[in-house]
Amino acid sequence: MAIVTTRQPEVRLIGRSPAIVALEAEIDSASRSDAKVLITGETGVGKEVVSRLIHHRSARAAAGLVTLNCAGLPDSLLESELFGHVRGSFTGAYRDKPGLLEMAPNGTVFLDEVGEMSTRMQVVLLRFLESGEIQRVGADRSHTRVNVRLITATNRDLQAQINAGAFREDLYFRLNVIRFAIPPLRERVEDVPLLVDHYVNAFSQTHKVPPTEITAEALDALMAYRWPGNIRELKNVVERIVLKTCGRPVHVADLPPEILRAAGTVIAGGASASATAAGAPAGDGADAGSGFARADELAAVMIKQGESFWSVVYPIFMSRDLTRTDLRRIVQIGLETTNGNYRLLVELFNMSTQDYKRFLSFLRKHDCHLPFQRFRAVPARLQAGSAVKTNQSA
Ligand SMILES: Nc1ncnc2c1ncn2[C@@H]1O[C@H](COP(=O)(O)OP(=O)(O)O)[C@@H](O)[C@H]1O
Ligand SMILES: [Mg+2]
Repeated sequence: MAIVTTRQPEVRLIGRSPAIVALEAEIDSASRSDAKVLITGETGVGKEVVSRLIHHRSARAAAGLVTLNCAGLPDSLLESELFGHVRGSFTGAYRDKPGLLEMAPNGTVFLDEVGEMSTRMQVVLLRFLESGEIQRVGADRSHTRVNVRLITATNRDLQAQINAGAFREDLYFRLNVIRFAIPPLRERVEDVPLLVDHYVNAFSQTHKVPPTEITAEALDALMAYRWPGNIRELKNVVERIVLKTCGRPVHVADLPPEILRAAGTVIAGGASASATAAGAPAGDGADAGSGFARADELAAVMIKQGESFWSVVYPIFMSRDLTRTDLRRIVQIGLETTNGNYRLLVELFNMSTQDYKRFLSFLRKHDCHLPFQRFRAVPARLQAGSAVKTNQSA
């Protein structure tokens, strides 16, 4: 849940796009100050890396960096993680426990997915930012004061959330002192070859295989792809390619199905076209490559890259950037993969098992709860070759 980082951070960001060059300079400048930083950008763009770089280049580097992801944590837990609790404050609280804010004295606290905080927790955080005082859960007065630097991140459009009444504007102003807006990878395509090269070398070393050469066509396809999971997804894809090709040159046909499908429309030629047909999921022909691309991509980000439903789907659905039809499609993919088992689906989409009820009531509320029965009898075509399923078990 919370991570106190001790490992060596990345030395710098990889990329030569103007966006990355500017980001490097902004990190330097932010690390010379002590001001709060708000980092925005899609999932996998490097928000957490940026937070680490700021901390490690700052005067606080010798002290701790504590990271907490606010998504999917119920209020009570989030509050006690941050502020600690006193003995007897809830069932199971056998002793006093310090919160994370106390665990990084003179250090940095990174709150990820801050846009997921409930309005009640937003008030609690705001109160802390105004006073610097820590009041443990169950205590009747403040316990101590701490000096920490706060860095927050979100993949939500906070301005839209403010307009919708879901995020407090006064908290937003507090957090948004220095602002980093990291563009998605598809908007800085020139970084793709460098990142691919970097991860090819890194994973070849890790897995002890000779460095792989990526052919020009394969690189074109990688550059044409939309990368919904951004650099996290690219890193994953490169690792799979390195393992699959074991040092021989990488051709278009070696790329994963989702990239081939996207490339099919860009790259003419037999290799990609036939590979597309072979690699496409064996779902209804009508679905393949049609209006469900976004839902399919999001499902892949969860299933293959370990991203949580609460951080990749939930926020964009709530901000109305994802339709009900798309959400139903995502649930459908999940049920197809799990033979109609919602409990397994919760795990498949990287939610905690305790989220089961919350997840189902969320689906019901938005009329996206599909009856599981029809996924129980598994048609042969799904057993044979759903791409999602194959990669999941790989
Ligand atoms: N510019 C970059 N150079 C090198 N690696 C990066 C870069 N941006 C992101 N990464 C890597 O991509 C992955 C996702 O980054 P992360 O910071 O966790 O994304 P986010 O917090 O935005 O979801 C991590 O493994 C990180 O090391
Ligand atoms: Mg993150």
